[in-house]
Amino acid sequence: MPRSDFELTHAEGLKYQSGFANEFATEAIAEVLPVGRNSPQRVAKGLYAEQLSGTAFTAPRAHNRRSWLYRIRPAAVHRPFNAIENDRLVGDFSTVPKTPPDQLRWNPLPFPDAPVDFVDSLITMAGNGSASSMSGCAIHLYAATRSMQNRFFYSADGELLIVPQEGRLTLATELGVLDVEPQEIAVIPRGVRFTVALPDGRGRGYVCENFGALLELPDLGPIGANGLANPRDFLTPVAAFEDREGDFELVAKFGGHLWRADIDHSPLDVVAWHGNYAPYKYDLRRFNAIGSISFDHPDPSIFLVLQSPSDTEGVHALDFVIFPPRWLVGENTFRPPWFDRNVASEFMGLIHGAYDAKEEGFVPGGASLHNCMSGHGPDADTFRKASDSDTSKPHKVTDTMAFMFETPLVIRPTEYALKTSQLQSEYSECWQGLKNNFAKEQ
Ligand SMILES: [Fe+2]
Repeated sequence: MPRSDFELTHAEGLKYQSGFANEFATEAIAEVLPVGRNSPQRVAKGLYAEQLSGTAFTAPRAHNRRSWLYRIRPAAVHRPFNAIENDRLVGDFSTVPKTPPDQLRWNPLPFPDAPVDFVDSLITMAGNGSASSMSGCAIHLYAATRSMQNRFFYSADGELLIVPQEGRLTLATELGVLDVEPQEIAVIPRGVRFTVALPDGRGRGYVCENFGALLELPDLGPIGANGLANPRDFLTPVAAFEDREGDFELVAKFGGHLWRADIDHSPLDVVAWHGNYAPYKYDLRRFNAIGSISFDHPDPSIFLVLQSPSDTEGVHALDFVIFPPRWLVGENTFRPPWFDRNVASEFMGLIHGAYDAKEEGFVPGGASLHNCMSGHGPDADTFRKASDSDTSKPHKVTDTMAFMFETPLVIRPTEYALKTSQLQSEYSECWQGLKNNFAKEQ
């Protein structure tokens, strides 16, 4: 069934396969996948076999991720790369200006007047570690006004966790097509080539480029076998390919920089594949939020969707956390997220509605950063309302979807983020109304 945007062909029927990092098997033309072996002497229909490994060959089985691709041409077929001058992306956070301990907040990235595609619109706001050391992450924003045309992109620096805030994205990848809308996320693995179309004409959102270990579902401990993000709700596309020749461009993100190469065919030419290294999407509205049914607001780790493990047990190199609609029932409890200082660093974004700790100033498409040990919490207005509310009755938080990229390393804003006019110079004012209410004589 061809898709008009990309001339892609995939098998009739299923569009997605369900499950997180399953051993998937999918073919756009029947009987292309080899049976009982990965690399037969001759692949069916004159295809090439190619392994795409996202972890070390010798990674423990539970973490080992790779897929076998059966394609019209190997990925090696393209012309040499040349560096693209680009001062919008940062891949080494030891080079950014001094990081202030201030709480920081930004207005949304405006859409450009000129037509700009997804890759060209990416701009780095903050991050830590470096692409070259394969640890840490970069947090980018995008605000694109046209589909990528005759160009394909991949990041060798990390997997891309894409969080659309406005406008749908069609992500046509080597391993199939993902249609993603706001309140859904997509993850494109390191190295997977893709192109981005904008069905709504424009799209804006957040991208966390995870330089470290692949995102995985957290253990659930005493929660049990179910809850939070359930594995079956993660969707991976079925194989889809196009056999298209022309003057195309392959853009690589490698070592923190962009590179371009001429390629005379579409790299979306994988007719069949099998394995557990593949793009996926997840609808955040399916998150099974778990919270207190007695008192107190649990630690926000209860809202963990995906984590990148680190070498230290219990510490994640990157957490992706959401704050979805939910019931608040805690009695005699301050119900919004409490005042907090934290060894971790928290970069937040808002996809939809309002966030329950900040009713004003933090708008969809905006962002905030509360770094290691920087005090933060509800603004004065929210504090007053929550202190006076009737907690004998349940309250439903509706019309909201906020998220957080949280890391154990300080999140360092880029020069752009510290100088842009989107930075709200008055942010700290939101706490100045928190007066001294101490009543020693009461
Ligand atoms: Fe916090």
